[in-house]
Amino acid sequence: MVQITINNKQIDVPEGTTVLRAAEMAGIQIPKLCEHKELTPYGGCRLCIVEVQGVRVPMASCTLPVNNGMVVNTETEAIKKSRKFILSMLFSERNHFCPFCQVSGGDCELQNAAYHEEMTHWPIQPGWNDFPVDTSHPYFVLDNNRCILCRRCVRACAEMAGNFTLSVAERGAKSMIVADTDVPLGDSTCIKCGSCVQVCPTGALIDRTSAYQGHDEKMTEIKSVCVGCSVGCSINILVRDNRIVRIEGDWEGSVNHGVLCEHGRYDPTTEARKRITTPMMKKNGKLEPVSWEDALNAVKDKLQPLAGNKNGIAALASTRLNAETLTAFKDLFESKIQSGMVTSIEEGVPSSAVMKFSEKQGEFEGKLDMLRSADAVMCVGANIGRSHMVAGFLFKRNLNKGTRFINIDPEESELDELANISLKAKPGSDLALIKGMQAVIHKEGLERSSLTITNADEWIAQAVSASGISAEQIAQAARILAHSVTPVILFGKGVTAQRDEKIVEALYQLAVQIGAIDQERSSLLSIKGEANSLSAALMGLDQPFKLDGQKVTYVAVGDDYVSKYLVEKAAKSAYLVVQASYESKLTENADVVLPVSIWAEQEGHYVNLDGRAQKTAKAISAPENVRDNLDVLNDLAKRMNLALDTDWQTAIRGRKSSVSLN
Ligand code: FES
Repeated sequence: MVQITINNKQIDVPEGTTVLRAAEMAGIQIPKLCEHKELTPYGGCRLCIVEVQGVRVPMASCTLPVNNGMVVNTETEAIKKSRKFILSMLFSERNHFCPFCQVSGGDCELQNAAYHEEMTHWPIQPGWNDFPVDTSHPYFVLDNNRCILCRRCVRACAEMAGNFTLSVAERGAKSMIVADTDVPLGDSTCIKCGSCVQVCPTGALIDRTSAYQGHDEKMTEIKSVCVGCSVGCSINILVRDNRIVRIEGDWEGSVNHGVLCEHGRYDPTTEARKRITTPMMKKNGKLEPVSWEDALNAVKDKLQPLAGNKNGIAALASTRLNAETLTAFKDLFESKIQSGMVTSIEEGVPSSAVMKFSEKQGEFEGKLDMLRSADAVMCVGANIGRSHMVAGFLFKRNLNKGTRFINIDPEESELDELANISLKAKPGSDLALIKGMQAVIHKEGLERSSLTITNADEWIAQAVSASGISAEQIAQAARILAHSVTPVILFGKGVTAQRDEKIVEALYQLAVQIGAIDQERSSLLSIKGEANSLSAALMGLDQPFKLDGQKVTYVAVGDDYVSKYLVEKAAKSAYLVVQASYESKLTENADVVLPVSIWAEQEGHYVNLDGRAQKTAKAISAPENVRDNLDVLNDLAKRMNLALDTDWQTAIRGRKSSVSLN
């Protein structure tokens, strides 16, 4: 620890802490603009200057590490005067006519800093270049006229999303933020995560989906969890008049530390599907509004006579539903009604092979955090460029620092360009390919833990013929993994959809062989599917959906998206009940439609891909005649004189888990 005195206050802080952070630890706020706690200190704006005893000039506290015995003053007259001067320079450099700016009035850190220094005017006459305003992006506007060149956006793009789209072009007063080689943002390599907008301290990057809908002080901020996928990012939902205005990444979030992907940030506010606001029943081939009483009684009359009949009902639930609802769903249809066909819409595609292997192996998967420090990552059938994007951010941000990346996926994707080696193995050849890699590592004596391989050359030859990849490329990929110190293997639906636990086992053996799994840790992880994929799998809701003459099909789809496959399959049902938030082809075909809440209108638990149980909050109220997913199931059960179990914590411990649950 290092002892430092700031404004006559003595504190002990860890070595390497910056003066700015040390001050914050002591409850002293130093004005700042370019500094951001999730970004590498840059020291560009100089607003955070402080006086250090024994040092002739003011020092930028955000880049200054503490020294034992250091004496710092943050509020001397000279410092305050310099701060005002710095702000005056910033205001004079570009068009900062606040009354014309969307973030003026509380949401602009530059304006707030000026008010903090009691500035009433600009002492320096403004004189600036006119910059074009880039409105080509669907979600945000880039206005270089409002930019203070703090480079938070550039750093967020690189350090948080690992995308490296933004940079600074030109020099001096002409400096401006550009995308790629100065192409319009909307045509650039931007992945629309919005991290740059969230960190922008001025109106240079404006979120167009929430612009002019009020300042943050008019919003209620609710901490919750994104249910867009199984990563489980922490979010802040900004609500006004019972409407989600904006979603921001929660800087305190243990999974994402503030970063979000396009889906998490923008899907909820750009939702175009039509809500269902009343129960409906099919009459003369047409869905017509009915009361809840009539709808639930009609469903009860269909379900009750089928109780005890294994082939009477097929029941499917979305894995976007919370764990409480999934538990009640399973209890109603499997335990109480005793249907033999109770599963999830995902049908175990992302999980059943993993679960089968964990039955044998127990916990064998690691945690997401290991991606942050991986020096080599191999992705197998996991297109984390399109789904589960935040998991990809955790290592993409290190690719320019030497992390090596192997992508194995027959589908073309943007990940191919980032990969050191991209292997386009023929579909279905994963097992042979992984064994081929094991054989190379074994043959070249690169194993950290040795595997029994009787004929390495034969395995390699099989890998080449099955995958269509050359022996040299297989060897290169194997060597990258074997030579790395902190390798991580990620796998996704490309592997798990084959429902073959032998591939999972081979990946496990490879991970052991290269030292990615040892007594203390595992660096093997499957990315799973939707937000509660793991909960559903642990509850056993992961078998393939088979329609086999059942008299009723009950689909609790909630606010999930409906695939063509599901619509076609469910269309064969004799009687279809759909519990849904939005209109779809599935609800069109239903005999009864029960309107239910979306994720933000109810609270409940989700278990993310690495086993963290997290709770979503109720941020807004559902439309008047719409009911909570769990309430609907409970009401239905009550009408059949049943009481449902909602003890999800016990329910998810029904099977051996592949990850430790916490
Ligand atoms: Fe320290 Fe900008 S906050 S230089």
